[in-house]
Amino acid sequence: MRKIMKVQIEGVLENQSLARAISAAYAGEADPTMEEIIEIKTAVSEAFSNACIHGYKECTGDVYMEFGFIGRDTLMIKISDKGVGIENIALAMEPLFTTDKGHNRSGMGFTVMESFMDRIKVDSKVGEGTTVTLIKKLDTYYDI
Ligand SMILES: Nc1ncnc2c1ncn2[C@@H]1O[C@H](COP(=O)(O)OP(=O)(O)OP(=O)(O)O)[C@@H](O)[C@H]1O
Ligand SMILES: [Mg+2]
Repeated sequence: MRKIMKVQIEGVLENQSLARAISAAYAGEADPTMEEIIEIKTAVSEAFSNACIHGYKECTGDVYMEFGFIGRDTLMIKISDKGVGIENIALAMEPLFTTDKGHNRSGMGFTVMESFMDRIKVDSKVGEGTTVTLIKKLDTYYDI
């Protein structure tokens, strides 16, 4: 893992655009295409908003983001909260599954992350929190 960067951001939805911008700036090290940047920002948005809305319910905790490159072309972004955690990860990741039906959630966040990333991994413990790891191989290499 190279070029590691760790960021702690207050987990409020107002900071979603900041989380997106930071991710785009970091990914920019590898000179990605515009399409790749949009995909990365979209996936990060979904994970970040999940941490705020579901992890912390009232958006009352910090979100931890960790960035790194595996090799010279594969981007890794970890997005963690210390919130309520997920009881059944496989179920939570199913398309259209949401625990938040009253609030216009569509249950498509994980599906969006999966479609834009090469791999996503979810680790979670009830009462302890959740970490979503996003992995994407980019078309270009970062310059050492
Ligand atoms: N960080 C998290 N902490 C606790 N629960 C989570 C977290 N992320 C997701 N979940 C659970 O997984 C479910 C599915 O998440 P997903 O992002 O796919 O859909 P959603 O957030 O409900 O709706 P959408 O993202 O489409 O607005 C959520 O409804 C929630 O129950
Ligand atoms: Mg969501």
